[in-house]
Amino acid sequence: MKKLYEGKTKNVYSLENGNVLLEFKDDCTGKDGVFDPGENQVGLKIEGIGRSNLETSIHFFEILKKKGIKTHYVSANVEKATMEVLPAKVFGHGLEVVCRLVATGSFIKRYGEYIKNGTPLEGGYVECTFKNDALGDPLVTKDALVALGVMTAEMYDSIKEQTLKITKVVADDLKTMGLDLWDIKFEFGYNNGEVILIDEIASGNMRVYKGDKIMDPVELTKVILKK
Ligand SMILES: Nc1ncnc2c1ncn2[C@@H]1O[C@H](COP(=O)(O)OP(=O)(O)O)[C@@H](O)[C@H]1O
Ligand SMILES: [Mg+2]
Repeated sequence: MKKLYEGKTKNVYSLENGNVLLEFKDDCTGKDGVFDPGENQVGLKIEGIGRSNLETSIHFFEILKKKGIKTHYVSANVEKATMEVLPAKVFGHGLEVVCRLVATGSFIKRYGEYIKNGTPLEGGYVECTFKNDALGDPLVTKDALVALGVMTAEMYDSIKEQTLKITKVVADDLKTMGLDLWDIKFEFGYNNGEVILIDEIASGNMRVYKGDKIMDPVELTKVILKK
């Protein structure tokens, strides 16, 4: 097993069968010992959070599989905190895809002049950012992605369509727990001529509200896993 990459919260290995193994660590992004999923640096360790994030990801990847939505997910070993996935090429140096159902966060920072925090975005709104810690993950448009040769217009359209579909699946599931999904962040990759969802679907990748109160990611994980 060869280590391909050491990420902030996961180690990435290549497997003999050609697949990839993601090992979920207990390292969390945050600052000064406070967990903050929006941070771009590792700030603390929380015992067992790697396994919890893996279990949350399994929860959602299994639902997507049942609904016939293909992702990189192959299998998982909770004990070892590992997930076997299809190998994917990331776009550029890494791309994050955000789906917003309710306007908040950086969307309000940018467009607060036009929209109030907490306003629903009917049907969902999709935008992309480059993974670039130094530049604070800059926003990138479809035209830029095509102009830069990062992807074709067709690939972008596939990402957008899948993002809206997958976000609805996650939101519908959270709704059954009495929770509202406000926004969520995904990664997509390219595998054998297909664009598929990769990486994880964990509590730190989404903003979820119970009524007018935002859910803390650790609490949210407990609710999703019914623990
Ligand atoms: N199926 C896959 N194939 C190849 N790379 C993947 C796959 N799924 C996720 N990755 C990559 O593995 C890394 C996961 O580690 P993580 O700690 O989350 O990294 P980062 O610090 O870049 O967010 C990410 O860079 C992600 O793009
Ligand atoms: Mg990551």
